[in-house]
Amino acid sequence: MSDETGISALLCAAAGASGLVPREDWEDQATRALCAIAEQRGAAVSALLHDRQGWPSLISELLEHLTVGETYFFRHASHFDVLLEALSARLADPLATACVLSAGCASGEEPYSVAIAIHARLGARALARVRIRAADISAASIRKARAGVYSAWAFRDAPDWLEPRYFVRGGASAGRRLVDVIRQAVTFEVGHVVNHAAGLPSGSVDAVLFRNLAIYLAPQVIAAAYAEFHRVLGPQGLLFVAPADPRPDGARFIEAGHETTSIYRPRAAGEPHGEPAPPSRRARLAARLRRDARLLRKGPPPAAAKRPAVRAAAPAARAAAPAARAAAPAARAAAPPPDQRAAEARAMSLADRGDVAAALSAAAALIEQPGTAPAGYLLRAQVSVAGDRAGAAVEDLRRALFLRPEHLLARYWYVVALRGDGQLAQAIQQARVLEELLTKSAAEARLEDGETTARELLDALRLLRGGFT
Ligand SMILES: C[S@@+](CC[C@H](N)C(=O)[O-])C[C@H]1O[C@@H](n2cnc3c(N)ncnc32)[C@H](O)[C@@H]1O
Repeated sequence: MSDETGISALLCAAAGASGLVPREDWEDQATRALCAIAEQRGAAVSALLHDRQGWPSLISELLEHLTVGETYFFRHASHFDVLLEALSARLADPLATACVLSAGCASGEEPYSVAIAIHARLGARALARVRIRAADISAASIRKARAGVYSAWAFRDAPDWLEPRYFVRGGASAGRRLVDVIRQAVTFEVGHVVNHAAGLPSGSVDAVLFRNLAIYLAPQVIAAAYAEFHRVLGPQGLLFVAPADPRPDGARFIEAGHETTSIYRPRAAGEPHGEPAPPSRRARLAARLRRDARLLRKGPPPAAAKRPAVRAAAPAARAAAPAARAAAPAARAAAPPPDQRAAEARAMSLADRGDVAAALSAAAALIEQPGTAPAGYLLRAQVSVAGDRAGAAVEDLRRALFLRPEHLLARYWYVVALRGDGQLAQAIQQARVLEELLTKSAAEARLEDGETTARELLDALRLLRGGFT
């Protein structure tokens, strides 16, 4: 077995063990990581690859390099308001206790934010009545979480009072160390999200935070995780997913009535089905990219694989939230004022609901106004792409980019449309331009839809490019 074959087999096994969908950069990351691991162990890379018995521990080490551990304190801040409201109602009974699960907790900022929010708003006694469990597949992340020491980056979207009140500076490390009362309030474990949840008793959890992990997981693993969360949550329990995550299936979960914050409650047995929740833009983008990549590998799409309705087209020009904009200088510079954003958002939601005619007339209205014209062209182009009218989409995206050459999502869709229209040379050239622009952006900068980050779009672009270059 060559090293190359060995690495592919090892990555296959890593994907199986973690449930993660392999990323394009895994092979490079794994090659570098294997060299470092081999040096540390005083062994040759090929010896590690041949030693199948040693793969479980090798994979666990490797996953530390392959997972995305991006997180920060009070991420999706509105979730904590809703969680606190629910916990405070539950703890109103003086004998009640509660349990919160942070599934895929990375280096601990998420479960610690839960503990801090409880401590700050409900007090130390309430915190003592809440069990906060947190798990992650990466042993290195859990080590970091247990240490509770953070750099300034972890506070990038945190409220001003957080650091002075709950962290101490100095001591042996240069970071900010979390105070013991919060550190001790969270129990960390290393584990696979599904296996970890499977070990919890039915109905024993009041809230599950499963945020920014499902986007990396294979569909069957996501389904298994949601099934376990449905089992472990009590009837009043809440499931929090990130705005970009794939939605839980409608048979098990129902929106809890906090539309903007992606919060669900378990559907009771016999409770009637409503409309399934539409997937978020980023999830649709990811799904679309995966489908595109599959189709590209197989050649031209067969009739049965016709593009889905407009809701799968990931309308992308949604307004960015002010906090998100702060992280994205390029997007911020191009951001439309609030009334235009509202008009764009309305048009996007029509497209989301699959109302093509209404979305097209909303796009036409946006095109009428100079400030919103690029968003209008982009929206209309996405509707065209979804309807297999790539040529029309190319024209609209050309107009959008003429008006807003720095619009990164519009350029992405331009690549998609050019490829769909068979203009491969132009698609490749535009993909290069976009890749260059994206590599110059901060990886976590939010793009024009306020959700997609530069790194995600870059990943998406590379996946797309892999299909035709
Ligand atoms: C992007 S972080 C999300 C952190 C946090 N939930 C948040 O929203 O800020 C994703 C985390 O999921 C972890 N992870 C990946 N696959 C996992 C799995 N199968 N089981 C548990 N954790 C996993 C990664 O190690 C990483 O720390």
